[in-house]
Amino acid sequence: MGKIAVYPGSFDPVTLGHLDLIQRASLLFDNVIVAVTVNPSKQCAFSLEERVAMVKKAAPRSNRIRVESFSGLLVDYVREKKACAIIRGLRVVSDFEFEFQMALMNRHLAKTVETVFLMPDERYTYLSSKLLKEIARLGGNTSSFLPKAIQKQVLLKLQ
Ligand code: PNS
Repeated sequence: MGKIAVYPGSFDPVTLGHLDLIQRASLLFDNVIVAVTVNPSKQCAFSLEERVAMVKKAAPRSNRIRVESFSGLLVDYVREKKACAIIRGLRVVSDFEFEFQMALMNRHLAKTVETVFLMPDERYTYLSSKLLKEIARLGGNTSSFLPKAIQKQVLLKLQ
């Protein structure tokens, strides 16, 4: 069996930054599972089902990339999938503190699971789903950051 990585997140909604990371991860691992979940410290604009459906629509069609959802502890899900790595994106220094804390906590919970940090293309270093939603709600142009396949659905919901 090849090497499997899990790319977890809220994906509320999925952005071109996330797709950039999925693409990069798929060059490093045999299989990438994009795992949509509930972040207890975030209030999502889209339901879990909507978020999964949007990632499925926007993600590259490849039999090495799968989109799923999970609830509960990330490390339990990673072990269940027999994955060896968790993929997380690092955009700016301010991401680092929380990501570092999560990576070490996940390592404490599951010794053999590594977190692999990938940096997105520079175009997406200042992008976040949170800012994107705010701009969309206020009628700004989000077309450089939203995958084409979900643009209509996102704007319909937020505007
Ligand atoms: O896209 P996000 O919201 O930054 O992703 C955060 C996420 C979903 C990866 C994190 O909240 C998470 O891992 N949630 C699952 C519950 C869990 O395992 N928590 C302990 C983390 S150390």
